[in-house]
Amino acid sequence: MSHSSFPAGFLFGSATSAYQIEGAAAEDGRTPSIWDTFCHTPGKVLGGDTGDVAVDHYHRWRDDVQLMADLNLNAYRFSISWSRVQPTGRGPAVQRGLDFYRSLVDELLAKGITPWITLYHWDLPQELEDAGGWPERATAERFAEYASLVAGALGDRVERWTTLNEPWCSAYLGYGSGVHAPGRTDHADVLRAAHHLNLAHGLGTQALRAALPGRAQIGVSINPAAVRALTDDPADLDARRRIDALANRIFDGPMLRGVYDEDLIQDTSRLTDWSFVKDGDLADIHQPLDALGINYYTPTLVSASADRRLPRRDGHGGGEQSPWPASEDIAFHQTPGETTDMGWTIDPTGLHDLLMRYHRETGGIPLYITENGMACDDKPSPDGTVHDPDRIAYLHSHLDTVRRAIADGADVRGYFLWSLLDNFEWAYGYSKRFGTVYVDFESLARVPKSSARWYAEVARTGELPAASEALDAVDAVGDPVAD
Ligand code: FCB
Repeated sequence: MSHSSFPAGFLFGSATSAYQIEGAAAEDGRTPSIWDTFCHTPGKVLGGDTGDVAVDHYHRWRDDVQLMADLNLNAYRFSISWSRVQPTGRGPAVQRGLDFYRSLVDELLAKGITPWITLYHWDLPQELEDAGGWPERATAERFAEYASLVAGALGDRVERWTTLNEPWCSAYLGYGSGVHAPGRTDHADVLRAAHHLNLAHGLGTQALRAALPGRAQIGVSINPAAVRALTDDPADLDARRRIDALANRIFDGPMLRGVYDEDLIQDTSRLTDWSFVKDGDLADIHQPLDALGINYYTPTLVSASADRRLPRRDGHGGGEQSPWPASEDIAFHQTPGETTDMGWTIDPTGLHDLLMRYHRETGGIPLYITENGMACDDKPSPDGTVHDPDRIAYLHSHLDTVRRAIADGADVRGYFLWSLLDNFEWAYGYSKRFGTVYVDFESLARVPKSSARWYAEVARTGELPAASEALDAVDAVGDPVAD
């Protein structure tokens, strides 16, 4: 293996999620999720955008799979829309919904692309939110039933399964700052939601194990914060400890070690006594895993402060209220450096820190980067091509970091760039473009950007070109093809 190669069998994929691309919101029996409701509530999403049509993947999936094959991807991570396959979040499945995913999976397999399913990427069936949502324990039980229903339908052909995508966002942005669906703002509910998401992961993993063949690989995708303290002052270091507990250990503690750390319980004791954690829950959550998915975009920089500044990077959009419970005296700062179109600082060192941390702490669970990428203000040139050298530089620096982490001993087995297509970026609607394939949001035509061609070469060769070659390559990649 040369210094620039990735290990044999390394997955080079891209990732999407159902609500962000599918559209067909009311077709074939699908009922609203919390994101449908949220988008149709005035003032919640920039420009009043919705996922009603999104990029119409529900009708264009065959062409989209062809695009992935043309771009040499050997894996594709996508999510299932819960309310498309089990409309009210309870009871029997809707066959047409399952058929859609079965056809998609078969097409992927026919093209030699490994399908990787995420069961939950934030689109809770509205009826389950009406019954209390993630702050309620029953939602975790419903999730396990849904997991076994999807496993029963697709388990004969799909080997890679992720329970939840970024439970931090579901709990903290959905129930804390309210900038994500369902838009609630109660810090005690954030902690209840976090626990029930953990429980959903644990019960869901058990349901998957029971329904899937032994070769199935099961994991979860977290978005751990690479938390840094502004100074070495003990007060700033303590702010870092507290945010590490609230961002990371609240999830990886129960999932990977079977505990909620005592400092987390103490730090939040004025909001809750944690009596929602029942006997046996921690054992249920602490399940053996075959994969840990890490989603990474930018580091988190904190200090102790009395001035109540709001977080600069709370994930997706400002909001009046902080997403972080019991953290009013912690200030969040912008990490110095260039930023993406989201305002997120570009700093791959955070990814290295996280890969090495989870390598040490998981006792050898294979690691995958299940999301990484950048938003750019991409615009087609007069000839219709779309050039995104900043994205190539971003991908290069982060893939190089992955390679270094592997050289340093981390067992990293795949990288999924976010995202295949420009899509519905949650509270930002269609104003942020994360795709390596440009989508004209009027005609819905797809145009691979130069980054898609560049990544296709990395995927084909399993080699990362030297940084100096990365940008030269942009000119050599040929004309992107219009749809
Ligand atoms: C992640 C989400 C994904 C996308 C990217 C930019 O937090 O999982 O859906 O919004 O951020």
